Amino acid sequence: MLPLPILLTTLLCAFSSTALTLQHEHAKQLLPRAGSLEQITDFGDNPTNVGMYIYVPNNLSSNPAIIVGIHWCSGTAQAYYTGSPYATYAEQHGFIVIYPDSPYEGGCWDVSSQATLTRDGGGNSNSIANMVKWAVEKYEADEERVFVTGLSSGAMMTNVMAATYPDLFAAGIVYAGVPAGCFLSTADEKNAWNSTCSQGNSITTPEHWAAIAKAMDPGYDGPRPKMQIYHGSQDTTLYPQNYYETCKQWAGVFGYEYDSPEETKKDTPLANWASTVWGEKLTGVLAGGVDHGIQIQGKEDMVWFGFT
Ligand SMILES: *[C@@H]1O[C@H](CO)[C@@H](O)[C@H](O)[C@H]1NC(C)=O
Ligand SMILES: *[C@@H]1O[C@H](CO)[C@@H](O)[C@H](O)[C@H]1NC(C)=O
Repeated sequence: MLPLPILLTTLLCAFSSTALTLQHEHAKQLLPRAGSLEQITDFGDNPTNVGMYIYVPNNLSSNPAIIVGIHWCSGTAQAYYTGSPYATYAEQHGFIVIYPDSPYEGGCWDVSSQATLTRDGGGNSNSIANMVKWAVEKYEADEERVFVTGLSSGAMMTNVMAATYPDLFAAGIVYAGVPAGCFLSTADEKNAWNSTCSQGNSITTPEHWAAIAKAMDPGYDGPRPKMQIYHGSQDTTLYPQNYYETCKQWAGVFGYEYDSPEETKKDTPLANWASTVWGEKLTGVLAGGVDHGIQIQGKEDMVWFGFT
């Protein structure tokens, strides 16, 4: 048996060193390491348990911009981090990249339930918006320069983020997705596949698509992110009709005349890729001969997001 004073001292030391360790863990959580992909476990309300990963560049700008990069089906935050050019560009331009990680087996995003298709509805979109708010606050980020992009299921989610949180984003880039609301599950299933939409059979007017997008944040009347829509003309996973429907949706939202775009450019940005400009807030790019495996155009993305 230890004499009482020594016992007390021992207990106190044990207690304070535990407190210090906790404090240290807490500090680490508040400021993730720069220059590598780091998980953030406590970014706020996370109703659907979406994973949050972040890349803070070593060369972080003051008042930095943020890009949210959303992975494809069967992808992960890690896979998108290594399989997309954004972390490399982050070092050049000083922005932060947030990589959400799907909570579902199969790694797709919920773009089908009412919850995710509604602002603050408690779905995946709500969790991703909370990641953005966390990062804006922690890094005193520039709220005027928050961007969103994704590929395939992540592209569908990009359209959903732009529709549910139009105030949060300044610009979006969609690589091979479908319009916001096109994967709707009438049975209100989460994370459901919708083959009517994927096969290009959900066809409607710009006005109707716009109404669907606007209903996701009812009453909102402020500025909305400008959108760039890429799609392969030979896509057999998400049929090319989804390119036209997505362009209709945003043309409708912005009040552009879908049938009379401002400008069409052949071989832009690549040979056989055709660009259509409806106005300063909407450009579509139909990639001739390209299937669902469309290549991210990192350099072009930096232009659309205003870094170069
Ligand atoms: C660091 O960022 C600044 C501005 O954001 C940029 O001009 C510079 O080239 C970057 N440095 C490197 C090593 O990329
Ligand atoms: C698939 O989505 C369309 C809208 O694009 C909707 O009309 C249809 O009911 C959905 N299918 C199912 C099975 O929910």
